[in-house]
Amino acid sequence: MLLLRRAPTVILVLYSCILLCESKTVNEVRHHGRKFPDGFLFGAATASYQIEGGWDADGKTENIWDHMTHNEPCSTDDCLNGDVADNSYNLYKRDVEMARELGLDFYRFSISWARILPTSFPDKINEAGVQYYNNLIDELLKYNIEPVVTIYHWDLPQKLQEMGGWTNSFITDWFADYSRVLFEQFGDRVKYSVYWITINEPREVCYQGYGTNTKAPRLNITGMAEYMCAKNLLVAHAKVYHIYDQEFRATQGGTIGITLSAQWYEPENENHAEAAETLLQFEWGEYAHPIFSKTGDFPPVMKEKVAAKSAAQGFPRSRLPEFTAEEIEMVRGSSDFFGLNHYTTYLVYSNESLEYDAPSYYDDIEAKLYHPNHWSGGASVWLKNIPWGFYKLLTKIREDYDNPPVYITENGFSTRGGLDDDDRIIYYRGYLNEMLNAIEEGSDIRMYTAWSLMDNFEWMRGYTERFGLYEVDYESPERTRTPRKSAFVYKEIVRTRALDFNYEPDTTVMTIDEGH
Ligand code: NOJ
Repeated sequence: MLLLRRAPTVILVLYSCILLCESKTVNEVRHHGRKFPDGFLFGAATASYQIEGGWDADGKTENIWDHMTHNEPCSTDDCLNGDVADNSYNLYKRDVEMARELGLDFYRFSISWARILPTSFPDKINEAGVQYYNNLIDELLKYNIEPVVTIYHWDLPQKLQEMGGWTNSFITDWFADYSRVLFEQFGDRVKYSVYWITINEPREVCYQGYGTNTKAPRLNITGMAEYMCAKNLLVAHAKVYHIYDQEFRATQGGTIGITLSAQWYEPENENHAEAAETLLQFEWGEYAHPIFSKTGDFPPVMKEKVAAKSAAQGFPRSRLPEFTAEEIEMVRGSSDFFGLNHYTTYLVYSNESLEYDAPSYYDDIEAKLYHPNHWSGGASVWLKNIPWGFYKLLTKIREDYDNPPVYITENGFSTRGGLDDDDRIIYYRGYLNEMLNAIEEGSDIRMYTAWSLMDNFEWMRGYTERFGLYEVDYESPERTRTPRKSAFVYKEIVRTRALDFNYEPDTTVMTIDEGH
């Protein structure tokens, strides 16, 4: 009776408790955010051809992007090229200053092969080129910012291309010789361990550059050239891994691995689960399986499908080259970490109808991918903002490859420019949140890299798509760099080591915090 009479009071008390408790949680999140693990590292990335300019400065010779953009200027959307780009060849101190403003733990950049080795080979080392990267590395180290160095980010010397580029198996030696020079020149910084990334995004190098005409050298020989490229690239990578491991690691103490581009492929419905898995195995399993699986070699489904199609098409052997037993062993395990560039998710359905010209890569796969119309995204047609795909991808990497250390070496969003980039902020927060979900479930993710520190030459899109935390003014000779709103938000994430969805930055002045 008493209880009954008091019921309204009890309910009121309970209700206010719920309100209070809830607001406490909200407040906690507002003021403290969701924490990143201790020791987690934050950085930002760029790549040589996309930012340096100085295309023929001080002895540098032509690479495949110089060659393509000079010979066919309107191969890019705006008919522009990387001759000057962000002029980082001269403005690298400002780049490091920006990394300091953001409070970054590391800066990921790449080295231009043709700047270091003008003949493509180590018979002649270009001292001016070496000096440029020494200056950059020293400037970073001065402010305790770790260099994360990509050895190859798509700018192959043109001469090597004329000898077949990544389809010539001699490239495994050419790449090893070039890499050894880099270890000798830059690997010896005392207190610090340089992180080396052998090759950035093999899929884009091989499929886009050799299978299609969507990246230099635009060979467009699908169903054939991208597979030859893949095999040589994996062997080249592994050779370099073992050179570092055997000749340099003991004295230099760095880590070395490869960066793969991996998107998430979601089946349209459960009937298409097998198709989505097959497509995934072709798109990035092609590179991940040989290195990170227990057995090594190309994914079984890929070997079976290309062999069967090739036989039916009258080829005397599979269009997918075979690794020797020795090569399988050399490639297996040849990465200290899983370098991951991730941007987006696709839906997949099985498609066995012969609507593709055969032979072709997608005819081999027998599946199709697309983005539903209602998915929103960035300025790049391929980039939709689907954070849950990042979580699923990270979970798959953990489960399929025995939880390797994962370095997120790129993630980011494109706009058409402008300083108020709320869409980019929403993207970064969503993806970081899903990454934290994966970490909580046990994924061993150790670093995160925003693409990009600043706007730059976005390959075939020229300067029409902007990925920068800093906007670059291409009208000004100084290539003035100005922080976007996202730069202030990223800085706060790095400073607090936490993700706070409610943080609204004051974007009036960007400063360098003490200790940077
Ligand atoms: C990946 C590439 O590594 C980088 O060069 C490119 O600019 C970004 N994706 C954005 O497309």
